[in-house]
Amino acid sequence: MKEIIYVLDFGSQYSHLITRRIRELGVYSELVPHNFPLKKLKTARGIVLSGGPQNLSASGALRVSRAIFKLGRPILGICYGLQLTAFELGGRVKAGAKREYGPMEIRITKRSPLFRGLRPQQRTWMSHGDQVTALPKGFVGLAQSANCKFAAMADEERKIYGLQFHPEVAQTEQGQTILANFLRITGAEKTWKLQDFLEKTLAHIKKRVKNDHVVCALSGGVDSSVAATLVFQAVGGRLHCILVATGLGRLNEVQEIQKTFRKGFPSPGARLPDGQVGRVTRPPSSGRRPVGQRERSNRGLQLRVVDARQEFLQALHGVTDPERKRKIIGELFIRVFEREAKNPLLLSPSQRRGRKSGGGKIRWLVQGTLYTDAITSGVSIGKTAAVIKSHHNVGGLPKKLGLKLIEPLRELYKDEVRKIGRLLGLPKSITERQPFPGPALAVRIIGAVTEEKLDLLRRADAIVREEIKKSRENVQQYFAVLPSIRSVGVQGDARTYGYPIIIRAITTADYMTAHWAKLPHELLEKISVRITNEVPGVNRVVYDITSKPPGTVEWE
Ligand code: XMP
Repeated sequence: MKEIIYVLDFGSQYSHLITRRIRELGVYSELVPHNFPLKKLKTARGIVLSGGPQNLSASGALRVSRAIFKLGRPILGICYGLQLTAFELGGRVKAGAKREYGPMEIRITKRSPLFRGLRPQQRTWMSHGDQVTALPKGFVGLAQSANCKFAAMADEERKIYGLQFHPEVAQTEQGQTILANFLRITGAEKTWKLQDFLEKTLAHIKKRVKNDHVVCALSGGVDSSVAATLVFQAVGGRLHCILVATGLGRLNEVQEIQKTFRKGFPSPGARLPDGQVGRVTRPPSSGRRPVGQRERSNRGLQLRVVDARQEFLQALHGVTDPERKRKIIGELFIRVFEREAKNPLLLSPSQRRGRKSGGGKIRWLVQGTLYTDAITSGVSIGKTAAVIKSHHNVGGLPKKLGLKLIEPLRELYKDEVRKIGRLLGLPKSITERQPFPGPALAVRIIGAVTEEKLDLLRRADAIVREEIKKSRENVQQYFAVLPSIRSVGVQGDARTYGYPIIIRAITTADYMTAHWAKLPHELLEKISVRITNEVPGVNRVVYDITSKPPGTVEWE
């Protein structure tokens, strides 16, 4: 049996969250489609049936094979998962008289190993229309809410459980205790530790790559930085990172990335917030003293910065359509990277000599693909979702270059990647970095992109970021946007005709939805005064008070 909990995905927006919460408790978990093969489910310690947007009382609702209840594995049905369990095992599910959505008090009516350590009254989070009106044979009710007679149910003998509320969301008071209890019931061992994962991954990469060389497109974002650093630990100077300077980045961005990666980190003994000390392996030595300027100066990661600013500016000349901008940038990025990855100068002279005498060749490409990017599991992955924005991706690269892929973060969630980054000694400026779109400032300049506008936006954006960071307000993402209009103003008794700057600041849990941040007026005023004083060409500052939906986070 594998030390794993499978979460069957019925399309709830919280499906990934269940998997993450289980991992946080030290047990490995994967999100799989609702029709995942029984043969595989049988090898798991336990199975969770997620929630889902559908109602069993409506036609076309997703079902589950009844045989999974006969596998003898502990099962926990959450929300729709509870209803499905009740329905498939012979209980009754009806459209509820009243839809329950939001915080809901429950009262525990029966003791159960699932509720060990719980207070008798609990605030939980519910989101359902249907509800169970009659339990299947062998089940008892464990809890009630004002509108829901069976807020929880159990067949203790078969170890099959159901919760009408969501234990995985923070709004359910002791949700994590319930999940921990379920894990105890399954007998799953806590084998999921990021430190072990890191060591196993390093060993695996070393074994696969052998003497070969590896290339990586480093952007300075969390994913590519952690992936590159991890591979660097495994192969040292045979990793060649390429940073494409598009000229569309934020103020001093390229220099800061260069500085961080030149320092020769990871620094051994990096401290984690929980007091753990990161164990860091040094890159393997080649056995010989390094020869040549390049190798000697690179105790840190090898980073080749490619100045492609003019190419990007030219390609974007006069382009105003947001989707065209995104496509042009994505395609040009791949072209530049492809060219540079084939550049023989990527390898040092001694490496090139080694290559001629049968040494390693560039055979691998590192990508920072995450678990959420990689899985194409069930319905919540949105195969049919409308394309709102074409995201910048380098998916076409490995084929074009004839390289094999290394994706060391493929099993990880973003918060786990941040922790791995910290274990590797990466600075907070990288591990806690805000999301930044691939097409960069080009999608924050509305209309055509010019060098002057880039310069203006970069300066205003630096002020927005500096001030909001300093204020320590709880805001997940903030930046400046430059529209293509001008307005009349007055400065020093003279008429001005300048650009406005839009401040965008949002609070969000997952970037799928977001609220505009209620920043204090004093803070907004400070930003406004600074921008209009310090950035020539700007005579007005406005604040975007649109949430997502109906807006998106970025303007283009
Ligand atoms: P939207 O604008 O779609 O943004 O509401 C949601 C989040 O995604 C980021 N974003 C991108 N990230 N490549 C990325 O890696 C992109 O092309 C891209 N476009 C938007 C955005 O900053 C926000 O955090």
